[in-house]
Amino acid sequence: MSLSAAASHGRPAADLRRLRPADHDELVAVYRDAVLSQSGGRYSQAQIDAWAHHPARSGALRQPLAEGYGLASTAPLAGAGPGPDGTTSIEAFGVLHPGDRLALLYCRGRACRQGRASAILRALEERARRQSLRQLRTEASQLSRPLLERRGWLVEAEETVLFGGAWFQRWRMIKPLSPLHRSDPRG
Ligand SMILES: CC(C)(COP(=O)(O)OP(=O)(O)OC[C@H]1O[C@@H](n2cnc3c(N)ncnc32)[C@H](O)[C@@H]1OP(=O)(O)O)[C@@H](O)C(=O)NCCC(=O)NCCS
Repeated sequence: MSLSAAASHGRPAADLRRLRPADHDELVAVYRDAVLSQSGGRYSQAQIDAWAHHPARSGALRQPLAEGYGLASTAPLAGAGPGPDGTTSIEAFGVLHPGDRLALLYCRGRACRQGRASAILRALEERARRQSLRQLRTEASQLSRPLLERRGWLVEAEETVLFGGAWFQRWRMIKPLSPLHRSDPRG
């Protein structure tokens, strides 16, 4: 079953798994790689430096990782077959923290445009539906806004915030969630 097909059923697909606190250092690396590889041309060098290194400098990923609900999209490591821990790498991840807020969504440059963030979003949205949430919210970047809009997220407001020592424009967005029906097997 393809990653997106499996995730559309609301459970983590074969290569989606729950994040755990021990993933912290790898997530910091994915975050940095995502920003350094994909933000050129859209953000200034000062913004890229502030954003890419923020988690390593501040430890900002620890709390969402410990308290939130996160999913990793993984890939087999070169030379290792699928199997227990240590044989896969995290290519992308997303975290709900608190449960109605998409706090993090990042994908390594080498793995982008493969549908990984979309599959993570689909699974996180399904989880929120199963929890009877009526909507999700987030603060989108220039890079994530088009993807979110394509998935039915709506811009509520634009804002400018100081983040990691630089000013950023971002968009507050929501995704209205249709309730699951009682007979829906995903519930
Ligand atoms: C935003 C981000 C997470 C998207 O990750 P991604 O895994 O590349 O996302 P997807 O592959 O699901 O979708 C990205 C695009 O690839 C397209 N795509 C998906 N599967 C594809 C495939 N197999 N082949 C080609 N294109 C594909 C999608 O349609 C989408 O197009 P769009 O941008 O025109 O809407 C990633 O760009 C990133 O890490 N950005 C930096 C950090 C950031 O901005 N995070 C959000 C703020 S908190």
